Amino acid sequence: MARDHRTVLVTGGAGFVGSHLATMLKRDRDGARVIAFDNLKRRGSELALARLAAAGVEFVHGDVRAAADLAEVGAFDLLVDCSAEPSVHAGYDGGAEYLVDTNLGGTARCLDAARRHGADVLFLSTSRVYPIAGLRGLPLERRGDRLDLAPDAAGTGWTHAGVARDFPLEGARSLYGATKLASELLVHEYGAMYGLRTVVNRCGVLTGPWQMGKVDQGFFVLWAARHLYGGPLAYMGFGGEGLQVRDILHVADLYDLLARQLAALDRHAGRTYNVGGGRELSLSLRELSVLCGAAAGTDRTIGGVADTAPADVPWYVTDAGEVRAAAEWMPQRRLDAILEEVFRWLTDQRSLLEPILGMSGGHRTRG
Ligand SMILES: NC(=O)c1ccc[n+]([C@@H]2O[C@H](COP(=O)([O-])OP(=O)(O)OC[C@H]3O[C@@H](n4cnc5c(N)ncnc54)[C@H](O)[C@@H]3O)[C@@H](O)[C@H]2O)c1
Repeated sequence: MARDHRTVLVTGGAGFVGSHLATMLKRDRDGARVIAFDNLKRRGSELALARLAAAGVEFVHGDVRAAADLAEVGAFDLLVDCSAEPSVHAGYDGGAEYLVDTNLGGTARCLDAARRHGADVLFLSTSRVYPIAGLRGLPLERRGDRLDLAPDAAGTGWTHAGVARDFPLEGARSLYGATKLASELLVHEYGAMYGLRTVVNRCGVLTGPWQMGKVDQGFFVLWAARHLYGGPLAYMGFGGEGLQVRDILHVADLYDLLARQLAALDRHAGRTYNVGGGRELSLSLRELSVLCGAAAGTDRTIGGVADTAPADVPWYVTDAGEVRAAAEWMPQRRLDAILEEVFRWLTDQRSLLEPILGMSGGHRTRG
């Protein structure tokens, strides 16, 4: 049954994705209450508060690990869950508690709240649910300035077009990926047991202005910022040549997809999709350096660190064919337009952003 979604709760609503989705949901839902709920753990999330207020989004300071914080929000009829510790490298230093409690426990608390109010649920999952060994096992070869698959190569759940939803799930995937996959299972169970309408979108790399890129997450913005503001950059892992590849998706294109899913929720309920920009929006770090150098007017020599971090994968391109067909959706924003927008934002907001994204924000980038 269609619902109006007059009260929308966006957890992680001061984060990069959450703040964009909250302001766009508010823009497109006349008279609706949109609540951004966040504990401001991520450095830079506090900068979203002024944007949220200007857009008419209410902010609630709270923690998804605390059921009482979520109860204080009151009733809502749509939950968009964007709260997370989003780094695939989190936990490797031995501190897994925050990651597991937020990414898995927090999902459970959010689902409990959604169940109490009979709310619909959009859950943002990740391409990192796919195992590290499986992705490292793809038959990649160097093609120009990137690693790539041969055009006719194919296997279970992957082709030249990218990694599809049915890529095999057996194997270790990082605690980040594991908490997200476990959360997906919970989302489906709450859907089946309590009749909630839920959609899971497994996203590849998302980007756009207001992403507080850091060494271990948000490489596209950090790479651009370091070219513009200065600050160290290094190609890390896989021989240190910068040949590793990702596809990117602009957060506004993600929003367009979610809006389509919400408009036809009965059709999408219970589904899991792989979501990303796809091959046309893919690039290697080395290729990104060329684009950033041109945009910043610099010609930097970037060194390499050959050692590969345990969770790194050399290539991930999303095969989003399934969701493109199901939602009649196509990303509209191209690579050059996204880069131009990010550089314009970095230039306009330099005094605000340089302390976070420049020299002091970390010293190397994993990509
Ligand atoms: N950015 C990407 O490339 C990407 C890719 C795939 C999936 N995702 C998923 O999208 C979602 C949003 O990611 P993002 O890039 O906006 O990250 P982000 O770090 O910018 O936003 C997450 C927000 O959650 C908040 N938060 C963290 N712990 C919390 C807690 N215990 N209680 C309440 N709030 C808490 C943080 O302060 C932050 O504002 C995450 O679920 C992430 O896993 C992101």
